Amino acid sequence: MEMDSPSQSHPPHVVIFPLPLQGHINSMIKLAELLALAGFKLTFLNSHHNHERLIKFTNIVAYFKRYPGFELKTITDGLPLDHPRSGNWFLETYEEAIIMKIKQSFREMLMNSNPPVDCVIADGFSGFAIDVANELGIPIIGFRTSSPRSFWVYYSITDIIKAGELPIRGSEDMDRLITTVPGMETYLRCRDLPSFCRKSDIEDSTVQLIVKQTRKSTEADALIFNTTDELDGPILSQIRTKCANIYPIGPLHAQLNTKLKAKHGESFDQFSNTLREEDKSCIPWLDKQPYRSVIYVSFGSSTSTSRDQLVELWYGLLNSKTKFLFVVRPDSVIGKDGEGEDFVKELMEKSKDRGYIVDWAPQEVVLNHQAVGGFLTHSGWNSTLESIVAGVPMVCWPYFADQQVTSRVVSRVWKIGLDMKDVCDRKIVENMVNDVMVDRKEYVNSATDMAKVINQCVSIGGSSSNNFDRLIEDIRMKRLKTTKRL
Ligand code: UDX
Repeated sequence: MEMDSPSQSHPPHVVIFPLPLQGHINSMIKLAELLALAGFKLTFLNSHHNHERLIKFTNIVAYFKRYPGFELKTITDGLPLDHPRSGNWFLETYEEAIIMKIKQSFREMLMNSNPPVDCVIADGFSGFAIDVANELGIPIIGFRTSSPRSFWVYYSITDIIKAGELPIRGSEDMDRLITTVPGMETYLRCRDLPSFCRKSDIEDSTVQLIVKQTRKSTEADALIFNTTDELDGPILSQIRTKCANIYPIGPLHAQLNTKLKAKHGESFDQFSNTLREEDKSCIPWLDKQPYRSVIYVSFGSSTSTSRDQLVELWYGLLNSKTKFLFVVRPDSVIGKDGEGEDFVKELMEKSKDRGYIVDWAPQEVVLNHQAVGGFLTHSGWNSTLESIVAGVPMVCWPYFADQQVTSRVVSRVWKIGLDMKDVCDRKIVENMVNDVMVDRKEYVNSATDMAKVINQCVSIGGSSSNNFDRLIEDIRMKRLKTTKRL
C-alpha cells in the first residue's frame, strides 16, 4: 500500500498558545492567521478572560470563520474570573501553584485534541509548555514576542552577574558600559539593561524567573522571533549558538498585511485583536490635520503613569510646536479610584485646540495615517515594529523590562529616534518632540529608509517571507525534531 508523504496527508494541526497579555496575543494571533492562510488547521488557545474581551470588543468569531478548521479554545490563566488583572499583574501572580494549574489544563487539552496536534507554538515565556510537549512527543516552537536583543540580554544576565557587572552601584554608575553581552559591547549601558536589573538584590525572584524562563526557551525545538535579519542579524547569530533553529519572520503584522492584500486586494478589512474598545473618533480628527503634523503618544497596554509624569508630558507636548494624539488608558494614571479619569478629562478640556485624547486608539491605522509624523512611545516591541513599518520616527520613554533595551537600539543602533530614558521633564519632551516633528532631524530620513528595507523583507523573496516558507515546510514535513541541535 502506498503511504501518504507528510505534505500530502491532512493539513498539519498547530496549537498557538500566547501568554494572557495584549502585547503577546497581538503578534501570536497574526502568526495564527498566517498559518491558517497557508492551509493549516489552527487552534488558538486564549485565557477565558481575554477570550471574553476579544468577543466583546472585536468580531473575532465571525472573522476567523473564513478559515476552515480555525478553532478558538480557552484555558485558565490560573486566576479567578473577577480578578482585576491590572498593572503588572502577570509577573506578580506568576508562581508555581498557578503554573501547575495552567500546565494541567494544557496537558489535558493536548491529550484530548482531535485531530491530534502536530506542533505547538507556545509563548517563549511559558517553559512548562516545553515540558508538556516533550512528555507527549509533540514538536514545540517557542515564540519570543519581545525583541531578540532583549532576549539576548535576559539570557546573558547570569554571565553579567558572574563578571561582577551587576548589581548597579548607584545612580552615578548608570552610564557604565556592560561588556558581557556578546554583540552589544559598544552601546549597552547599565541604564539600558531591563528595568528589573536595577534591583540591588540580583537574587530577586523576578530576575531569577525571567532568566530561568529565557534559558528554558532554548530547550524548544526551535524559536520564532518577530523580527528580520535586516534589523537584528548580528544578535540572531549570537542566539543561534544556543538554539540552532531560529525563524525570524517579522514584522508579523506587515507579513500578514502583505499576504492578505495579495489574496483579497487593498481594501480588505483586517481583524483588530484588541482587548479594549477602540476610540475611532481620532481618525476624523487626524483627517483634518496637515501631512506629518501630529505626534502620536501611547505607552502600550500595561504602563502606569503618575500624575506628575502625565503633567510633564502634557506640558512638554503643549509647549512644543506640534499637535498631538494622546492615548491615556484611564487605569494607567496612578491615583485614587476614578481620580485618574477626572484628571484626564481636565487635561482634555484644557488642550482641545492642540490635542486629542483617547482611552485606546486603533494604533496601526493611526501610525499609517498621513497626518502622523512621530511617535512618543514606551518602546514596547509591537509598537516599535509598527512604527518602523510605517516609517515613523520615535521619541522613546521606556517603562519596564525589554523596553529599556529597545529604546537604546532605536536611538543608538538604528538611529531612527531619540531616547528620553529615565527623564520625564517638560523641557526635554518639548525639545525632543520638536527635533523629530519640527526640525525633522536625520531620524526622519533614517526612519523612511528603514521602512523601505523592512517592508521588502516581508515581500516575496524577502528574508522574512523566505523564513516563513521554511517554517511552513518544516512543520509540514515534520522536520522540527531533527533540526533541533547544532
Ligand atoms: C509589553 C512589551 O514591552 C512587549 O515588548 C512585549 O512583547 C509584550 O509586553 P505592551 O506594553 O503591550 O507590551 O506594548 P506593545 O508590545 O507595544 O504592544 C501594545 C499593542 O497594543 C500594540 O500592538 C499596539 O498597536 C496596541 N495598541 C496600543 C492599540 O491598539 N491601541 C492603543 O491605544 C495602544
